[in-house]
Amino acid sequence: MDDPILSYEKPIITKLKSGCINRNEWHSNQSIKTRTHIDSVDINELINKFGSPLFVFSEDTIRKKIQKYKKYFSTSIFDIQMAWSYKTNYLDAICSIFYQEGFLAEVVSEMEYDKARYIGIPGNKIIFNGPNKSHQSLVKAIREGAKIHIDNFEEIEEISHIANKLNKIIDVGIRLNLDTGTYPLWSRFGFNLESGESLAAVKKIKLHSKLNLVGLHCHIGTFVLDPNLYKIQVKKMTIFSQMLEEKKYAKIKYIDLGGGLPSNSKLRDSYYHQNIIVPNMEVFAKTIISALEDNKLSEPRLKIFLENGRALIDDAGFLISTVKSTKRLPDGTKGYVIDAGINLLYTSTWYKFNIEINRQFQEHMEMSVLYGPLCMNIDVVDSGILLPPLNTNDQIILSPVGAYNVTQWMQFIEYRPAIVMIDTQRNPHLIRGKEDLTDLIRRESIPEHLAI
Ligand SMILES: Cc1ncc(COP(=O)(O)O)c(C=O)c1O
Repeated sequence: MDDPILSYEKPIITKLKSGCINRNEWHSNQSIKTRTHIDSVDINELINKFGSPLFVFSEDTIRKKIQKYKKYFSTSIFDIQMAWSYKTNYLDAICSIFYQEGFLAEVVSEMEYDKARYIGIPGNKIIFNGPNKSHQSLVKAIREGAKIHIDNFEEIEEISHIANKLNKIIDVGIRLNLDTGTYPLWSRFGFNLESGESLAAVKKIKLHSKLNLVGLHCHIGTFVLDPNLYKIQVKKMTIFSQMLEEKKYAKIKYIDLGGGLPSNSKLRDSYYHQNIIVPNMEVFAKTIISALEDNKLSEPRLKIFLENGRALIDDAGFLISTVKSTKRLPDGTKGYVIDAGINLLYTSTWYKFNIEINRQFQEHMEMSVLYGPLCMNIDVVDSGILLPPLNTNDQIILSPVGAYNVTQWMQFIEYRPAIVMIDTQRNPHLIRGKEDLTDLIRRESIPEHLAI
């Protein structure tokens, strides 16, 4: 048999560093994989049709996540209602999937409220949270029967004033913040339980004849890694609710536990793989349900609301980007400029994305940096990563990026790219077009004396 013809591979000299390994180097031994398709759709075809960079969402992944989430929580005797956290991802198509799946809309601003109404969600299927509800959005929400969770003392007065004007008795909830033992405490939203502020809020509400306190809401944080924190939350909320009933301050009909379940993202500041530190969603569900049982929340039957975001959408989002140029930095590190940067990846500050390449590769890995396209030194998508030699026009697929990126992306230097959703029959749909100059200038005007 003939000897196989071996191709030449150029040698790579890697500088060895002494001292402690840092987190980036620790993470650098992640294995880079090949990905040529998303949900059976060819990445090259997507890029040819919709351009690069391109966000891609998998409807199949979203629906499967939702099914699991429902299954884990439906094992209980409790009346659990899920709500979709708009701020996590308020693309109309995404919100419509959650509504179809029976979720309410959980919004935290007038903009989000209007978006939910725009896609056809009735007011009485909206939970209105947040520290900055405009007067007109409160009037709308009260008229339309939304569930309003009061954040502060001023809001109590404002809502009471509107209810009086409309001559309408309205059910309200209050947001609590409480110490579950995780720090820093999220104490800026709602009324603090331990200091007595929550009770003061309840007493204040009781003075207003048109306000009827029926709900307690609390969102303890995001990317919560310890399921036991929810036990503490449930216990504290239950004790408070029972005390309100005993002392005849209010009869609580529901408890809203907020969101906070983690996704499969890698935390930048963790040495451990996410599979080790992120408990399964089922573990969270079991812990929450057993906490509800321990606190006998089925008698009297309280309704439970959940408002998860990232755990349900993060894994369904991909960002396809293209290598634009290659660099050799003075210290020998390889650098690549890709067409997607921190303008599109707000969460890159906290999370390290999976990196996949849309072709087979065998070459040696080299320590590399991925730069975004912005003419700004801070635009670094990732550094200290081992990558095979890349060529211009190679595609790099970053994931999971489904949570908080397409809401927090910046309109800075570059147009924002198109977003595609692949449906469960494997058909791609454009769900948001690429921006152009009209998006940028639509609200600008030039005073006459400056006209060119
Ligand atoms: C009030 C409220 N509910 C739900 C969520 C969703 O949180 P997560 O995406 O961590 O599940 C948030 C996010 O900050 C929130 O502020």
